[in-house]
Amino acid sequence: MAKLTIKDIDFKNKTVLMRADFNVPQDASLNITDDTRIRATLPTIKYILEHGVKKLVLISHLGRPDGKPTPKYSLKPVALRLKELLGQDVLFLDDCIGENIKKEIDSCKEKVILLENLRFHAEEEANDANFAKQLASLAEVFVNDAFGTAHRAHASTEGVTHFLRSAAGLLLEKEIQYLGNAVQNPEKPFMVIMGGAKVSDKIGMIESLLLRAGCFIIGGGMAYTFLKAQGKEIGNSKLEKDKLDLAKSILDRAKYLNKDIVLPVDHVVVETIDANAKSEIVGENIPPGKIAVDIGPKSIKLFEEKLKPAKTIVWNGPLGIFEMDAFSKGTEEVAKFVGTLKAVTIIGGGDTAAAINKFKLEDKMTHISTGGGASLEYLEGKVLPGVAALTDR
Ligand code: 3PG
Repeated sequence: MAKLTIKDIDFKNKTVLMRADFNVPQDASLNITDDTRIRATLPTIKYILEHGVKKLVLISHLGRPDGKPTPKYSLKPVALRLKELLGQDVLFLDDCIGENIKKEIDSCKEKVILLENLRFHAEEEANDANFAKQLASLAEVFVNDAFGTAHRAHASTEGVTHFLRSAAGLLLEKEIQYLGNAVQNPEKPFMVIMGGAKVSDKIGMIESLLLRAGCFIIGGGMAYTFLKAQGKEIGNSKLEKDKLDLAKSILDRAKYLNKDIVLPVDHVVVETIDANAKSEIVGENIPPGKIAVDIGPKSIKLFEEKLKPAKTIVWNGPLGIFEMDAFSKGTEEVAKFVGTLKAVTIIGGGDTAAAINKFKLEDKMTHISTGGGASLEYLEGKVLPGVAALTDR
């Protein structure tokens, strides 16, 4: 990596400020329903603790509280989970800046401290220099392990780097290594699986990978704008009318470049989207009034056939409404198949990671990104401000 990483830093007797992405899902009673992002930071936390650090001050956001203290977005439940996972005390402080916080950090007996949600201050998202300076004043060195937030130029990801030596944590380094390698130096055949609701969300990724990958397998809601562009009947399935021309031009360009764009050839359809709705399987053309909610069995076979020779696969976006069990088969079957391949398999964060977790296939994939938006922006070829801002080696 061209940036400093924690392996370049002498942590002995230093107070370290570490940005993590503890933006985890919670239920109505604020129980954490998926702690993957907390677990993913443990190697960095443990490494720093094992290297003689004086205090480790963790900072993060949770949700989008719009710059105001909002109890349901408190990081306190994360402190409790972290304590369980680390097997050592974690002090939780109810703000992230100020003289009192500084004093508590200096005088507390705990080595690990988690500060309250950064986004309770509007200055965080505004990347306010004074706020960043106050955060920086809490420590002597900065570590960024928040890959999931690396696409945001906020005070705790970008601003703070102007005041402290700044190094990448192990998670951030690993994410960049896997995603970077897949994009810049993939073992071929390199194939991309794309899904999710909207074409507009994935345009940048298609544009950026069109020259690099040989085959694009498209499912999920976004497939229907492409199918319509090919002249197919799509019933009441999701259509982004304003993206039809773009879909046509992508199909034309792919043909010209001799790239394979593979779309579903059959569909699971319903009349209304409801977990208990009566569904049926239809062929290429979807009858009027029907909505596609998953790919059909022939499409699963076709996708698997295409994926067989792959040596690198990047997957971003589910192939159906996998959150509803009745419509999760397409995503699950293809995921199971991908898990059997002798290929480097890279799963984008967000919904795709949630799907892989739901099917308990985490161990079958080479790398599951902890960043939804961040991995997408990276795959689009964009610079991630949280990475760019770290100290050069
Ligand atoms: C995420 O969940 O994608 C990250 O934590 C970033 O959150 P944000 O989209 O609210 O900035």
